[in-house]
Amino acid sequence: MAQATIPEDVGKQAERLRKDLNYHIYRYYSLDDPVVSDAEYDEMYRALLDLESEHPGLVTNDSPTQRVGPPPSAGFTSVRHRGRMLSLDNAFNEGELKAFDERVTRGLGGRTGTVEYVCELKMDGVAVALTYENGLLVQGATRGDGEVGEDITPNLRTVLAVPLRLLAETPPDLIEVIGEVYMPEASFQKLNKDRLDNGEPVFANPRNAAAGSLRQLNPAVTASRNLNMVTFGVAYSSSTIPQYHRQELAYLRDLGFRLGEHNDKFSTIDKAAGFCLEWQRRRRDLEYEIDGVVVKVDSRTQQDALGATSKSPRWAIAYKFPPEEKTTKVIDILVSVGRTGVLTPVAVMEPVFVAGSTVTHATLHNEDEVKRKDVRVGDTVIVRKAGDVIPEVVKVITDKRTIKEVPFEMPELCPVCLSHVEREEGEAATRCVNVACPAQTFGRIAHFGSRGAMDIDGLGKETILILLDRGFIKDESDIYYLKREQLYELPGFKDKSVDNLVHAIDIARDRPTWRLLHGLGINHVGAHMAQVLAKEFPSIDALLAATEDDLLGIEGVGPRIAESVALFFDQRENQTVIERLREAGVRMADEVKAGSGDGPLKDKTFVLTGALSEFTREQASEIIEELGGKVTSSVSKKTDYVLAGAEPGSKLDKARSLGVETMSEAEFKQLTGR
Ligand code: IVH
Repeated sequence: MAQATIPEDVGKQAERLRKDLNYHIYRYYSLDDPVVSDAEYDEMYRALLDLESEHPGLVTNDSPTQRVGPPPSAGFTSVRHRGRMLSLDNAFNEGELKAFDERVTRGLGGRTGTVEYVCELKMDGVAVALTYENGLLVQGATRGDGEVGEDITPNLRTVLAVPLRLLAETPPDLIEVIGEVYMPEASFQKLNKDRLDNGEPVFANPRNAAAGSLRQLNPAVTASRNLNMVTFGVAYSSSTIPQYHRQELAYLRDLGFRLGEHNDKFSTIDKAAGFCLEWQRRRRDLEYEIDGVVVKVDSRTQQDALGATSKSPRWAIAYKFPPEEKTTKVIDILVSVGRTGVLTPVAVMEPVFVAGSTVTHATLHNEDEVKRKDVRVGDTVIVRKAGDVIPEVVKVITDKRTIKEVPFEMPELCPVCLSHVEREEGEAATRCVNVACPAQTFGRIAHFGSRGAMDIDGLGKETILILLDRGFIKDESDIYYLKREQLYELPGFKDKSVDNLVHAIDIARDRPTWRLLHGLGINHVGAHMAQVLAKEFPSIDALLAATEDDLLGIEGVGPRIAESVALFFDQRENQTVIERLREAGVRMADEVKAGSGDGPLKDKTFVLTGALSEFTREQASEIIEELGGKVTSSVSKKTDYVLAGAEPGSKLDKARSLGVETMSEAEFKQLTGR
């Protein structure tokens, strides 16, 4: 009957959506190879939901709205979950959170008192269920379709946050706990960097990396991936569990599980919405990715009264953040040449707003990556930006391809100096062989003056290009020989700007040795390695005199680094640059400062958060280290002080919750006398 009232075009539209969505589910879950972004998928899903709720006659058995998830793929043994692992409905804005609250209130009909909500961060990882019999882990499984998942017990045992035995003296005979396995951002970056260095394909995001790591047939590989897990609920228990969700979390923690950070309880949906918006803003403060906030009714009596649909509980909702992935078009693929001569293909795209800024360029890393992703000029692609990380092309939407796209070819000549390029066997990088290539010279000088190296304020890339163009500088050392008359020739440079640059260059004669070492751009010597070397060899002369064997004796220095350092100091051109720097009065050794290592901050551990107004983070770190202290990245009980600037991140909250002493910039200045 209902069918008769449905206009034909609406019926067709629903059928199309159903077909497309089922295809995308297959691509995402079975093939692990999606062809649309999550946001596009969500949009289509909601369009279908809307049509179906307007015309219930449209709902069919095979509609993606009628199942919790797709079946597991072959390779691991299937296991049936004791309790069904439900999914969550989504809310995409405050209005939808309010609508959820209204449904909850209506559903309870005022029977069970007022409603309180618990908010939890929505971890962007892989859902798992852990089963314990008499306190021992007997099984760990993926969610699968919610009823049947894959048995990945050996892999989950490698995750340190998964207890192998529960802490309770009398644990329940049987308990199934649900949680999310994820990969911290830093581990994800490191994993991808290593993979890139080894010529292996990179993971598109931490979630895919976590999923890929959990689906390894060899648990040793999983173990090497630094996965982590948070737990957020009990799916089944043979003994009674606490009456409130917050108590359930505390109970889980007491059993030995790791909980998510920042859980909080709120008495109204407006306050819960405030928490959601706050974390939408602050998501980058975290050391892992979240894709939203989960809002749950706290009382179990109320949860039970509300119940669940076949897909999701009525007592919880996922507030989803706006996507960090967008679709755009590749207009061109350029090749840039870096300071070490490496040629990097870069996709130039139609501008698209992703995660807070407009993106037009994305690195494609190297020839193999372009080939693997098969990015062609004219392609429609998904781009992604995570935090401060540079934008990336996640994948090409091949369905949108016509016949006009042009495949990429690595040029045979350097696009800047037309010298030959080389790609050594076993290496992913293609290099321009000409050390005098203007692009390399520019890259070396820009690196030398950059914030992380000699930190010459006001010596921007544009300025360096003009100085090179006029022939005023030819290498790094020439910066210190620039004359005021020459600076006046730069466009827009007047008395004040000339004074400023002269002053900035002048103070950059007196930088710690590691900065100089880093600035010299020795292959494989980044900021960290430069600090390691400067600690052992506090003068450039000591390094000049060091043999490869001397270098190998230092902890953390392997053959690749030792060879590269020795080679650098052996080369005449480099020795000349160093001599000219020395003659210009650039500091070549670290004076052993009075009190250094034994200073007022001896053995004190600092964590920095937020923006300081008078120092860069590097400068503050240097001051702390000069006075004998140490700077680490995450707050723990061992942290002595958290130095908080403007708009501090979650580290400040963590410090407060752990009772770690916090310090303002003014207090820091007072303490250090700067
Ligand atoms: S509760 C019955 N809490 O989001 C509801 N889920 O879209 C069980 N997730 O499958 C889920 N963080 O993998 C819950 N704090 C959290 C979560 C969370 C991440 C994932 C989980 C779930 C999916 C639902």
